[in-house]
Amino acid sequence: MSSPIRPKKLIIAVDGPAGAGKSTIARLVAKRMNFLYIDTGAMYRALTLKALRKAVDISNAAQLTRLAKNTRIDLENNPDGSIKVLLDNEDVSLDIRKPEITKFVSDVAKVRGVRKEMLHLQRRFGGRASCVLDGRDIGTVVFPNADRKFFLDAEFKARVSRRHKELKENREAVTVEDVKKDLKNRDTIDSSRKCAPLKKADDAIYVDTTRMTIREVVDTVLGWVNH
Ligand code: DC
Repeated sequence: MSSPIRPKKLIIAVDGPAGAGKSTIARLVAKRMNFLYIDTGAMYRALTLKALRKAVDISNAAQLTRLAKNTRIDLENNPDGSIKVLLDNEDVSLDIRKPEITKFVSDVAKVRGVRKEMLHLQRRFGGRASCVLDGRDIGTVVFPNADRKFFLDAEFKARVSRRHKELKENREAVTVEDVKKDLKNRDTIDSSRKCAPLKKADDAIYVDTTRMTIREVVDTVLGWVNH
């Protein structure tokens, strides 16, 4: 008897700097394709939340690594395509978006031991089903053999105004100056760290989203996915 043909699981990597539109696009593409959406930034954010709650010294790599080893992080897809983030079984989906977390997350994410733990988890999540993952190192480190890789980028000014709009919608009291400072700081840390820095994979498709609508970016990505 011949064995049933199983469709191949597809991995789509979406990398880029903060504010380039990765999470919006990755979520919408996943929804359209009926794939899982895996927000890897949310995982670093969840660990940062735990570190701050436990008053772990953010400059202490050994303590952060120990914390990462003793933390359970799960991601679930809600029916509307958004993601539920569970930190040791607690739903922290909203808490991890607070400016306090955003301020420290890049310092937590630059720790090699932390990244090692997240890498295992991300590969395990990615093995579950066809999925779209967004992050900084998906196409370069986490899934270097991904079926499609995208690097979403946008001019700094556009990234600042998108992030500011998003935060205002979430009723966070932040100024454009605060957002500028935060993005600059995170861009520097994320792209200059020794371990898995933010970088376009050689074989990633570069999309400058500065002057594109969300729909145009989604269609561009889907066009390449179905290519
Ligand atoms: O995408 P985001 O803003 O939620 O990501 C939060 C931080 O996590 C970001 O500043 C860098 C880090 N990050 C990372 O280093 N690697 C990833 N794959 C995803 C996020």
